[in-house]
Amino acid sequence: MESEELTFRHSDAPSEESAFEMTLRPQTLQEYIGQDQVKQSLRIFIDAAKGRGEPLEHVLLSGPPGLGKTTMAHIMAREVGASIRVTSGPALERVGDLAAILTNLAPGDILFIDEIHRLHKTIAEALYPAMEDFALDIVLGKGPSARTIRLDLPRFTLIGATTRMSLLSAPLRDRFGSLYHLDFYTPDHIKQILHRSAQILQCPVEDDAAKEIAHRARFTPRIANRLLKRVRDYAQVNGTRSISRVIAKEALHALGIDQVGLDLLDRKILSTIIEKFQGGPVGLNTIAASLSEEMATIEEVYEPFLLQLGFLNRTSRGRIATEHAYRHLGVDLAPGQQQLLS
Ligand code: ADE
Repeated sequence: MESEELTFRHSDAPSEESAFEMTLRPQTLQEYIGQDQVKQSLRIFIDAAKGRGEPLEHVLLSGPPGLGKTTMAHIMAREVGASIRVTSGPALERVGDLAAILTNLAPGDILFIDEIHRLHKTIAEALYPAMEDFALDIVLGKGPSARTIRLDLPRFTLIGATTRMSLLSAPLRDRFGSLYHLDFYTPDHIKQILHRSAQILQCPVEDDAAKEIAHRARFTPRIANRLLKRVRDYAQVNGTRSISRVIAKEALHALGIDQVGLDLLDRKILSTIIEKFQGGPVGLNTIAASLSEEMATIEEVYEPFLLQLGFLNRTSRGRIATEHAYRHLGVDLAPGQQQLLS
């Protein structure tokens, strides 16, 4: 497999956090905890392609951020012994950017496009023949003298990842041989991931402490590992190397993470809907404007977890805070609101 340096050729230099994530990333399907159904299907998909001596068919991975789509792509590459080239929808600005990457691939290589729903339409359209016929049509020149040349491409595998399956055009979606959806993890799987990460980081964590962190990690490995790191800092500063439940609770409290894993912005989203908009329905754009946050961040990062916890409903008229959310924030329901929610 190619070195990691290639991995970031098309994105910013790895941040401290992504470098940390990389050290904790499982390298094989066997090491990967959770997502059992996806792993089972992938095992067959990979072994069958290997058995035929063929490259993998194109794969689309969907699901909320932080659940392991990038990790899965790296594992697939390793399992078939292919090199992987990583880029993302917004990083590809022109068809030429895509052409430069595709024409540099070797047969069997994997191209991973993260946030594939954010590809420009013209680039997505250039991908159709690339995926189907392994050819790229490039327009040279402009106006009446423009002409098209067809570049042959190696037989590559595209792995696309998206947090927003519904934004992908049908023609793009249809060109993938397999679609896998990653779902939120169970607290037990998150606890196992925390134990594995703690071992790699050589910071002993007691089982109750791992359980405490797991219950506040939004069912998401990336968040769990991030919390583990912060709890480790807290333990170190407080002069203990081992993480006990008490230390974990204190550290998480200091971080503003509540018992169910809501952070400050989660609570602000809910309290905005409840206090400024009488519990809703209120449009996403209005919520985003009142919090000075981007709509996409609220919709793709925050809402899936609030929906999962049953604190929020999405309706055609806007977002509604549920009775559960009122109870969690300790706010009384107004009489009219009670009727609306039931
Ligand atoms: N680290 C992050 N995600 C993981 C997973 N699913 N299994 C094992 N370790 C992980």
